[in-house]
Amino acid sequence: MEIVLSGIRSTGKLHLGNYFGALTNFVKLQDMYPCYFFIADYHSLTTHPTPENFEQNVRQVLAEYIACGIDPEKSTLYIQSDVPEVCELYLLLNMNAYVGELERCTSFKEKIRKHPDNINGGLLTYPVLMAADILLHKSTKVPVGKDQEQHLEMARTFAGRFNRMYKCSCFPEPQAFNFGDKLVKIPGLDGSTKMGKSEGSDNALYLHESPEITRKKIMKAVTDSGPIQENQGKPQSVQNLFDIMKVVSKPETLVYFEEEYNKCRIRYGDLKKQLAEDVLIFINPISQRITELLNHKEYLDKMADLGAEKARESARKTIQEVREIIGFRKIQ
Ligand code: TRP
Repeated sequence: MEIVLSGIRSTGKLHLGNYFGALTNFVKLQDMYPCYFFIADYHSLTTHPTPENFEQNVRQVLAEYIACGIDPEKSTLYIQSDVPEVCELYLLLNMNAYVGELERCTSFKEKIRKHPDNINGGLLTYPVLMAADILLHKSTKVPVGKDQEQHLEMARTFAGRFNRMYKCSCFPEPQAFNFGDKLVKIPGLDGSTKMGKSEGSDNALYLHESPEITRKKIMKAVTDSGPIQENQGKPQSVQNLFDIMKVVSKPETLVYFEEEYNKCRIRYGDLKKQLAEDVLIFINPISQRITELLNHKEYLDKMADLGAEKARESARKTIQEVREIIGFRKIQ
């Protein structure tokens, strides 16, 4: 049976882009495969969060995962650092990860460019830790966005290299996995093609945010001065609002505003007001569930413990096998 695994860094709240791009797929997958979903809190340390932020973010993402429909009984939902076996595999994989290939990684080069004051070893070996996450449970299906494909390629390289070096077939090769063309990409409110937390908080609509702020962000979204010719194409910024409408509004709402646009009668203010209401109708129940879960500390802790226990069982098996292959002494 193929195993699914994916992780989200705990660097901030989840937004609509995460919801449609990742979480809805995770929820579907948990009925089809054994699934491991985790909060990548070790990875989030590359940016040096304070202990208060760190703990709060992990808790927040855990509550958000569950509120979005990840069932901790069905899937294995865990916090990365609750399974320290991953550190051992990370160390072992580091021995066969070459500095040259790590330095050539696009995400590393980008981070150097953006944060020249914090180029730490954890950033350089980020793909090794990610490979350890994946290989720890021998997962082969990894639902991730395009930006993670190079990391996945590196995980395949490390897996294959280990197998060849020790003449074993310990690690299967993981592949990126998506439901074909159904992958929905949610654009940003700033006219960019991607909703993302790193682009600034006004660009993203968070699942757990006050309705006033959500409304304000949408009302402030970038547009142009309006169409001047019937049926003319839309600029990216306006297309973005229609694209968000496509996933949260009723089909007839979309048809109505398309028509208004094509006839050059559109008032962006009306479009935004409607969009804000539809986004809120969509987000509100999820947002309330997140609040409820955050208020139930014992429940969240219990779910985290359950996930850790399930994940460690699988992790221990792999680590034991790897230690034997390498030639470590067996601990009694
Ligand atoms: N690197 C991923 C991201 O930035 C998060 C991640 C860490 C991950 N480990 C993983 C994703 C393992 C899939 C599998 O979003």
